[in-house]
Amino acid sequence: RLPKQVKIVEVGPRDGLQNEKTLISADDKLALIEQLANAGVNYIESGSFVSPKWVPQMATSSEVFEKLNRINNVTYAALTPNMKGFEAAMAVNASEVAIFGAASESFSQKNINCSIDESLARFEPIMLAAKKANINVRGYVSCVVGCPYEGHIEPEKVADVAEKLFNMGCYEISLGDTIGVGTAASVKTMIDTVSQRIPIEKLAVHFHDTYGQALTNIYTALQSGIMVVDSAIAGLGGCPYAKGASGNVATEDVLYLLNGLGIKTGINIEKLLEAGWFISDKLDKKPVSKVSNAYRAQ
Ligand code: HMG
Ligand code: MG
Repeated sequence: RLPKQVKIVEVGPRDGLQNEKTLISADDKLALIEQLANAGVNYIESGSFVSPKWVPQMATSSEVFEKLNRINNVTYAALTPNMKGFEAAMAVNASEVAIFGAASESFSQKNINCSIDESLARFEPIMLAAKKANINVRGYVSCVVGCPYEGHIEPEKVADVAEKLFNMGCYEISLGDTIGVGTAASVKTMIDTVSQRIPIEKLAVHFHDTYGQALTNIYTALQSGIMVVDSAIAGLGGCPYAKGASGNVATEDVLYLLNGLGIKTGINIEKLLEAGWFISDKLDKKPVSKVSNAYRAQ
């Protein structure tokens, strides 16, 4: 049983770029975001409001949101770890925000400098302010199958954090395999466990492709009933607080898979490929997308 339609959450301009060492100008980020929107991507995580000391690439996020040439039905989302970030995102009219927690204590400390419980407490005022402002909040859980510091993570631990974020009011929970260690088996077990507590239609999957398992894991997730998939154009990025983790699964590769399955996304592959080459040229590298390189070689 596969879904007829899948929502792709494009995280390239945020998750993808945040770990690229070459600093990309706000104008080039804008060009990328606009090309993605023109390709039919209708959800684009366009930046994050975090400490520029921690993640220098995201320092231009305010400028990016300010200058965005917005298309009506496109959601331009921002990652916000605390009230300071939320306020900054609101000041430049982010369409919605995402809060991010982890299923691993050590990762929470390294990534956002606080415990899981402390992070949830920091999210409370964001949820309140967002509700007042009528802003949707997406929730992330990192390290859903493995942690760079703790190794294996119990699915129940993931379900606990996911449920807390969901009960706080997040409309969707994105399950992040931050270091890309999941396999079809561990991912299925994790999704089965979490979906016993949160309706499957409220869950999204977010795979990094470190071990080359992302597409297989996405297919597994689709079979479990997942209908929302996070991916990054050109397979950009990684996580600054997860050493060795490679980029997100490439949006081009996910689209090729979904097209092959006859699952609708509303995205035009040629335009998407162009966007991938545009940003890869700026980074002076080839897209980390087999589909993209295969098309180019034809
Ligand atoms: P902290 O040091 O504990 O915070 O950092 P603080 O409140 O003590 O503030 C320290 C400094 O940061 C102060 O500045 C604050 O003003 C500033 P200073 O006085 O030193 O000049 N500050 C901020 N600046 C801008 N925006 C803000 C903000 N808040 C405080 N919102 C903090 C806590 C969360 C800020 C820090 O740890 C941080 O920025 N971490 C970065 C986290 C990050 O961006 N990680 C990558 C994204 S998560 C991810 O990639 C995983 C995901 O993709 C899913 C997956 O794959 O698993 C989502
Ligand atoms: Mg990520």
